[in-house]
Amino acid sequence: MRMYDIIEKKRDGKELTKSEIDYFITGYSNDKIPDYQASALLMAIYFNGLSKLELLNLTFAMRDSSKKIDLSALKVPGKYIVDKHSTGGVGDKVTLIVLPIVAALGVGVCKMSGKGLGFTGGTADKLESIEGYDINIPIRLALKQVQDIGLCLISQSSEIAIADKKLYALRDTTATVESMELIASSIMSKKLASGVDKILLDVTVGSGAFMKDLDSAKELAKTMIEIGRDAGVETKAVITSMSEPLGRNVGNALEIKEVISFLLADENSLMSDEFRDLREVVFEIAAQMISMSGVCTDIEKNKKDIVRVILSGEAYNKFIELIKAQNGKVERVYMDWLGKDLDLPVTHDKVTFLKEIHAQSSGYIVSIDSKQIGEALVCLGGGRRKKDEEIDYSVGFEFSKKVGDKVEEGDVILTVLYNDKQNFEEAFSYIENAIYIDDIDEKLGNALRLKPHVLDILGEDDI
Ligand code: URA
Repeated sequence: MRMYDIIEKKRDGKELTKSEIDYFITGYSNDKIPDYQASALLMAIYFNGLSKLELLNLTFAMRDSSKKIDLSALKVPGKYIVDKHSTGGVGDKVTLIVLPIVAALGVGVCKMSGKGLGFTGGTADKLESIEGYDINIPIRLALKQVQDIGLCLISQSSEIAIADKKLYALRDTTATVESMELIASSIMSKKLASGVDKILLDVTVGSGAFMKDLDSAKELAKTMIEIGRDAGVETKAVITSMSEPLGRNVGNALEIKEVISFLLADENSLMSDEFRDLREVVFEIAAQMISMSGVCTDIEKNKKDIVRVILSGEAYNKFIELIKAQNGKVERVYMDWLGKDLDLPVTHDKVTFLKEIHAQSSGYIVSIDSKQIGEALVCLGGGRRKKDEEIDYSVGFEFSKKVGDKVEEGDVILTVLYNDKQNFEEAFSYIENAIYIDDIDEKLGNALRLKPHVLDILGEDDI
């Protein structure tokens, strides 16, 4: 078999056999097939797609490209091990909030997360913005940590689905990320290899997601649910909006700060406008995870319990336990408004410059294009242009206004935190184009502000 023939066959729109797909995945995983040939095949797949059978064969070959994790040590009778995965977004810090919440409610999670991909951020990078946090602990220790404290958050290990690890980085630099089949196989291969009983997917839709419209997001969700079913692993998907950046902060260390604010919120601020979109997504994903785990299938009750463990500080304490367990640095700080000392994560957050971006006219914010904001973050150095590039954890954006907010000319919409003036100039061209203000009436403004962020929930019955 020759890689050249496989590329040619896919280029011409023909169906690849299981042995051809296995040949590619095994050869690429073992460094026998060079990046340039793998890139050519990825581009042919990008343009010509894959049949259902090809997709299943590709996903299973990727899953089997290294060993499957044995989670049997974590099994508890009557409970299922659930994993959560997002298809990616801008300002997406959901995993970092959901995991401590569900762990505080008795749902153990051994989660692997990836680095930023294209214009979307990665949970692994956000965690690495905490000084000392070791994202690369071996699986053996990660499992012990789940037994001890109920959760771990590690990098997608090279011990599992190695083919995805390599292909993920290659796709990021060859403009082949936005392919439904490549996204589905990437996500499902590593989730299936991670040995979990059930999978909950957060399928994002909008400018800051890989799926730009609801129909394609649903198609991606159904494709992954079907792969899960064929592999015998129940899979569900929550479709969430990524048309504007999620939450108020975008940038690695800044997002850690927002996670802390969310987990330390009192009742008023938790339920306030500040956290509107983030709260809706976090509550739904966490409630669904608790339900799938078998702890409690009543979603509304789960949402009440979620509020309870946030307000009691149990979820925050879990977050700190996680950071300490993985060698992240925390320091004791006296919090005036709580009247007590609290451990706070120490992040790489030193920036030289701050710049406020002002509204150019009065009206309502109609849209904030999250893809442009994601690209602007890459310009500032907060995301990668080349695989394995170093990133600047401290840079990013703090939004004072969100879609649907009323603004007067000159109001601050966001603040840019940066370290390099030339990078700022580059980023500014994206920011300028990202925000659209219009003189619409109040009713429409309110409708935009209150629009739902959880758009649908799909399971096996929907495919
Ligand atoms: N997340 C992944 O893990 N893989 C993709 O291809 C896209 C998002």
